[in-house]
Amino acid sequence: MLRIAHISDTHITGDSAYKSYAYDLITNEINRLNFDFVIHTGDVTNQGLREEYERATYELKKINKPLVVLPGNHDVRNVGYKLFEDLIGPLNGVYEFRGGVVIWVDSTIPDLSDGRVGGHKFRWLKKRLEEYSDRKFKIVAAHHHLIPLPDTGRERNVLYNAGDILGLLLLHDVNLYVCGHKHVPNIYRVEDLVVDNAGCTSCRKTRRGDVNSYNIITLHDDGRIEVRIRRITGEEVHKLHKPLRPKIFVPRGERLLRIVQMSESNVSDRMYFRRKVLENAIRLINEKLKPDLVIHNGDLVDMGIERYYEKAMEFYEKIQTEKLIVPGHNDITYLGYDLFLEYLGEPEIVEMNDFVFLPVISAQYETPIGVVGRIGQKHIAGWLEEYREKFTVIVMHHNIVPIPRSRELGFLEDAGDVLKVLTDGEANLVLTGHGGNTFGLKIEKTPVVNAGSVSWELHRNPFGNSFNLIDVYRDMIVAFEVQSTWGTRKLLGIWKIKAPFEG
Ligand SMILES: [Fe+2]
Ligand SMILES: [Fe+2]
Repeated sequence: MLRIAHISDTHITGDSAYKSYAYDLITNEINRLNFDFVIHTGDVTNQGLREEYERATYELKKINKPLVVLPGNHDVRNVGYKLFEDLIGPLNGVYEFRGGVVIWVDSTIPDLSDGRVGGHKFRWLKKRLEEYSDRKFKIVAAHHHLIPLPDTGRERNVLYNAGDILGLLLLHDVNLYVCGHKHVPNIYRVEDLVVDNAGCTSCRKTRRGDVNSYNIITLHDDGRIEVRIRRITGEEVHKLHKPLRPKIFVPRGERLLRIVQMSESNVSDRMYFRRKVLENAIRLINEKLKPDLVIHNGDLVDMGIERYYEKAMEFYEKIQTEKLIVPGHNDITYLGYDLFLEYLGEPEIVEMNDFVFLPVISAQYETPIGVVGRIGQKHIAGWLEEYREKFTVIVMHHNIVPIPRSRELGFLEDAGDVLKVLTDGEANLVLTGHGGNTFGLKIEKTPVVNAGSVSWELHRNPFGNSFNLIDVYRDMIVAFEVQSTWGTRKLLGIWKIKAPFEG
């Protein structure tokens, strides 16, 4: 067993009268308790000034355990990264411990609050993960959060290339990602990765009236990872993750439902719209795959004009199955908002045996940025409660977890709060279709599947244009990606589920 204290966002100022009650309380506790080492995930100082760094080195010396410290966006203000290297230590590095390794990477951009692990650092991280692939516990630490957090206001400053990092960590079986930055403590499980966000250890800027806190990580010899959020009031939130075993499942029983999920057809007369590819995909769906429901996750047309909607209907009327289409931001540009309603109507809840499909509008007109809104979030929470007995599928345009190869540009403004509603409400499946690439993972108990583009040349998917085929069995979901032109399949994910099915 190994115990790590995870502190973050101390925001130490250079004030000669600097004194933090919370900092002293927490570091005293850390010194007293049985920790093997301590990780500080950045924003050590408030402005990256020399006097602050000097004060910080004094304060950090109060911790009498091995200490890993990494830079946050506040530390690199005013070219503070130079001082960080001189007075604290390297911006990137590796700390080895019994049975494991911490690889920390500088995710800051001078003078911006946003995060990025750029090309060079990304390759450096990849190399280290390859080098330490045999370690039982692989921990990656960076300042910025990887998964949208609740209660942070507008979702922003997530790593620009969060999807790439997430993909990399999952590919290399990283067990734990530790970060800070938003001053909101949180723990998520993403597949077999525990994402541990520390709150704010010792500055006044806590959110929603919260108090200072730090996290206690316990690595058990059998591979279990325990994270405890410990607030200075003594209140604790605790989560235990057992590694998934086995990782490959065999579905049992008959298939209950087959869904085809597509997105970003972008029907238009522009050269980027691949008419033949879409025709082919539809033929494949009708003749070979024969799903129970076809879902289109937005951007049916490239622009919200009548001619494009007319054209789109020619394609989608050919699909012989029931359809559920939610709008993307392209669909509601220009007069698209009215045209969508005229041609397709308001997306409505689809009920099918034990399944219920709940459409959520996330697109706004004339901007790729999405929002569900606080009222929308309440609707979702209400639905998940109301349909608790059913298999609930949320259908929306904007991705809720970062997508590899897609920068966080057309992000969902309130992704953190929406994700929280979905995971707390234990949605059985979430289908999204933004970012031009396919991705699927299970977060907490909820599989989230994003569709790439079915027929638009401007996508970010090395597999080409594709759509997803999702089969639901009594105890698991099996998702494939199907190449639009060739019909070849690639496994996207297999997730064990506890679905509310009878028998
Ligand atoms: Fe901070
Ligand atoms: Fe920060």
